[in-house]
Amino acid sequence: MWKRIFGKKNDTPDIDSDHSLSNLALDRASLPRHVAIVMDGNGRWAEGKGKSRSAGHEAGARTLKRIVRAASHIGIEVLTVYAFSTENWKRPHREVDFLLNLFDSFLEKEITEMHEQNVRMSFIGRRDRFSDRFLARMEDAEQRTAHNTGVHFNLAANYGSQDEIVRAVRKLATRAAEGELCPEEIDEALFSNALDTAGDPPVDLFIRTSGDLRLSNFLLWQSAYAELYFTETHWPDFTPEELKRAIEDFAGRSRRFGGLTTEE
Ligand code: FPP
Repeated sequence: MWKRIFGKKNDTPDIDSDHSLSNLALDRASLPRHVAIVMDGNGRWAEGKGKSRSAGHEAGARTLKRIVRAASHIGIEVLTVYAFSTENWKRPHREVDFLLNLFDSFLEKEITEMHEQNVRMSFIGRRDRFSDRFLARMEDAEQRTAHNTGVHFNLAANYGSQDEIVRAVRKLATRAAEGELCPEEIDEALFSNALDTAGDPPVDLFIRTSGDLRLSNFLLWQSAYAELYFTETHWPDFTPEELKRAIEDFAGRSRRFGGLTTEE
């Protein structure tokens, strides 16, 4: 079981040259449409190197940049990453402030390049605890890239799946109470469209780095039939090569969606 669900520990250096599909032993039809990643292990990576947790988060930001670029080159439709959960506010103030400033400077520095790479960027999660400055930065990134047609990059910030589901229920209940919607009309498709990921396909491949075997309140509805890939690699060491290995592993899985064959 352990071997089956864990990827190999990655000790190869980052190969940043060609992330195209050509060096993947797969065709486009076997690609996951939606890849979700729990970017875990910045702290453990830093501890192992005798560095501060902040240095770990900075290294994590560099990895994120490489993985967005790789996902875009590979031709993944949607990449959703977990940057900050609704529970992460419980961390020490200094770490929370550091992370929020890091997100802000990541956007400031990277949005132009992501836009040039045709990336469409969105944020999922609650927007009620961020500073006006960061909110403006988020909205600017979304608006600038809104018409791009490449990978849809969702950054989950102040996100919790249970919170997202409750917000969706409230939206639909309000519409029903106002007479806009009959409760009988609520089905899986309508519910999916009330979530922050409205319009995106369900998660096909759910990756978690750094060894813990849990979902941590990330995309619970969207991952109903996701294939899970856990790796012991800490997020700062996760490379485009390992993303490709996860995709190759995914392509070899038999997906039955509750039926008897891979066809639904
Ligand atoms: C969990 O690992 C990681 C986080 C709570 C933060 C994720 C942030 C990044 C990957 C930085 C880059 C992101 C952006 C958007 C620029 P942890 O740090 O709690 O690690 P640990 O479990 O080993 O302590």
